[in-house]
Amino acid sequence: MSAVDEAGRVIYGCMGLGGEWNAETYGAAEIEHAEAVVQAALDSGITAFDHADIYGRGKAEAVFGEVLARSPGLRERITVQTKCGIRLAANGRAGHYDLRGASIGARVRESLERLRVDAVDVLLLHRPDPLADPRDVAAALSALHAEGRVRAVGVSNMSAAQITALQAELDLPVVADQLEMSLHSRAWVEQGVLVNTPAAADVGFSDGTLEHCRAHGITLQAWGALARGRYTGRQETPEEHATARLVAGLADRKGTTPETIVLWWLRRHPAGIVPVIGTARPDRVRACRDAATRDPALTHEEWYGLWLAARGRPLP
Ligand SMILES: NC(=O)c1ccc[n+]([C@@H]2O[C@H](COP(=O)([O-])OP(=O)(O)OC[C@H]3O[C@@H](n4cnc5c(N)ncnc54)[C@H](OP(=O)(O)O)[C@@H]3O)[C@@H](O)[C@H]2O)c1
Repeated sequence: MSAVDEAGRVIYGCMGLGGEWNAETYGAAEIEHAEAVVQAALDSGITAFDHADIYGRGKAEAVFGEVLARSPGLRERITVQTKCGIRLAANGRAGHYDLRGASIGARVRESLERLRVDAVDVLLLHRPDPLADPRDVAAALSALHAEGRVRAVGVSNMSAAQITALQAELDLPVVADQLEMSLHSRAWVEQGVLVNTPAAADVGFSDGTLEHCRAHGITLQAWGALARGRYTGRQETPEEHATARLVAGLADRKGTTPETIVLWWLRRHPAGIVPVIGTARPDRVRACRDAATRDPALTHEEWYGLWLAARGRPLP
């Protein structure tokens, strides 16, 4: 099975589960909410779930573990992915990154305990740590794999060069790179067309990362895939309003939801991008059903129309 098949067509991102990040604990309400969201995902053909040790300061994994404990057989029907490498400061913001081998091992053991699982299907390194030694990172990942705690490994917010440096030391294939990619965060697609223009300097997407992932069978997972609602009800700027109108019209004509159009825009790209959706509302999860179950029905021209509307200025 390829990394894309393992991940599914859409992944549910669990960052919104477990209640407030500043609360110490969770209760029945947070567990029931997580149960409703997981059920909405399953009903919508979504069977892959994305976590990180820091989501809700561990509470997202913990409530998910409660849901698994209450639903015998569920673990075998789903894919569970988590991340490590960000350490939060007291104010809840990223304090430092930590990809020391010993830290990776400790964080994964804590995540498995919270999730109440023996292994995660995929472990992502959340962000690059400038102090990390790729050899130390690779040894920790290989040990976790050999122990059966981690079935596959990937990265997040990393460039082609960073993946190459890690892969050179690692005896397991890097299967995924999770990056911010959406109709709003378009640097991943702008980078490919602004090649020899001055605007290329401002793009902010590492040149060649998309192509590297495609060439090496590394699944591109798109975080922030719903553009945080900018084209499906939460639009503010003139470009967002114009794009939202286009999205609504396309949804009407194709008999689907605006959320699906926004996600189809990512899925229509030939790189096999897998959107990670983070809405914590079961009804909005259900609005993504067609994105997970149908092939993207956008023509070449419709895809460009959406890009241009969101871009708000002509192509070079
Ligand atoms: N690797 C990384 O560094 C990284 C970083 C960030 C996130 N992630 C992962 O990616 C997942 C998705 O990212 P995300 O949650 O930032 O992005 P997203 O899926 O684009 O947006 C979800 C957020 O937008 C809101 N939203 C969506 N549609 C809306 C609408 N029509 N009106 C008002 N609000 C709307 C949601 O609120 P409601 O909950 O009220 O619907 C939620 O707060 C996360 O859950 C996490 O798993 C990874």
